[in-house]
Amino acid sequence: MPRRLVLLAASIAALGGLLFGYDTGVISGAVLFIRGDFGLDPGMQAFVISVVLVGCVLGAGSAGWLADRFGRRRTLIAAGIVFGVGAIASAASPGVAILLASRFVVGIAIGFASVVSPMYVSEVSPAGIRGSLVSLYQFAITIGILAAFVVDYVFAGGGEWRMMLGLAVIPSIALIAGMLPLPESPRFLYKSGCVEAAREELQRIYGDGDETRDAEAAMVESLRVKQGGLEVLAQPAVRWALFVGVALAVLQQVTGINTVIYYGPQIFEMAGFHSASASILAQAGVGVVNVVMTLVAIVWIDRVGRKPLLYAGCTGMFVGLCALAVAFATKGAGAALGPVALGSMMLYVGCFAFGLGPIVWVLISEIYPLQARGLGMSVATLANWVANFFVSQFFLLMIAKLGRSGTFAAYAILCVVTIVFIARFVPETKREVLERIQVRAASS
Ligand code: BGC
Repeated sequence: MPRRLVLLAASIAALGGLLFGYDTGVISGAVLFIRGDFGLDPGMQAFVISVVLVGCVLGAGSAGWLADRFGRRRTLIAAGIVFGVGAIASAASPGVAILLASRFVVGIAIGFASVVSPMYVSEVSPAGIRGSLVSLYQFAITIGILAAFVVDYVFAGGGEWRMMLGLAVIPSIALIAGMLPLPESPRFLYKSGCVEAAREELQRIYGDGDETRDAEAAMVESLRVKQGGLEVLAQPAVRWALFVGVALAVLQQVTGINTVIYYGPQIFEMAGFHSASASILAQAGVGVVNVVMTLVAIVWIDRVGRKPLLYAGCTGMFVGLCALAVAFATKGAGAALGPVALGSMMLYVGCFAFGLGPIVWVLISEIYPLQARGLGMSVATLANWVANFFVSQFFLLMIAKLGRSGTFAAYAILCVVTIVFIARFVPETKREVLERIQVRAASS
């Protein structure tokens, strides 16, 4: 029974991921019609797309503080409300100014969710299944992205961009309604001094045995890290976790995933897919691979551990990118470029989906001591959004400067850097009680 409650809590909190995926994915199709209705020039179109990322940076930057001050549950409910308001306002926008403002608001909500959803799930999960449950959040992101592709496709015929943007209100309501009856994270309760309530929640999660006592002892140990604001940064354990968290968050982006997610159809056009609908269909195929391969992480992450999946995933991404680089350099060399590009991109995305995609979020939610978790997750997630912004802004420029093959080769090199970083700095956190991770890693 308690496990069922944990699974329910994880699935509802994962709706934050669904909104994240949907709202970052939906705009690429919607903007094709918005530009006509509002008469946008290319600069303004790019701004309509990227303003959401600016909101994400602000939302992620403040989410940790909010989650530490008001609790994980309330912050997630707030995220749902902000999402809903942003979705309705953007769907009803009479002009570009309101549209920009409401997309910015949606970005703030995505920023909140991207910090607090994995944080809440990680904190309510028993150690032995924590990796799988936090991976549910990534699974929801991938479903959101795929749903956005499908919705864009369905409403493209009538140019109904307001429906595309407005439909996000449905999961927002589900997130709010689902979170209301759920319990607060025991870790937050403990940190806020509500020791009895925290103990009760821990018993609901772990039952009455040793696991509850062990988790409580680890929390007490973790709270020895100095209290208060930015001062926690003086602790070596926190500085170490901050370094690893930020680096992982940035590496997840600079290995190029969102060039495929945001620009997939354009890459397929470069590879010789001549009709727009063939490119969109190929992109939907990539979206399906992204969803399905995330299941590999859900099933295996707590069995084989985080690092083996990361190594396998990054190696596969490296191979996919090299194949793409060679295919563009040789123009397919006999084999048709289009199918080779499609196969390479599927390999690349599939390997991201069971490696860097879920596991970066899992690790970011695990490596910080309780006292610094809000701040640490905020900083790492903010770094993830900033890196996302730069990679997606400069992708077309990189293609112009380095060429197609040079660009994918650069991402391939960054996969190698990521593998070396993981080997050198990332701890294996499989089945470890949350607060022990940082204590062990910092003293090793
Ligand atoms: C990343 C996103 C990306 C998505 C793709 C997430 O883990 O943070 O930037 O779009 O995976 O599935």
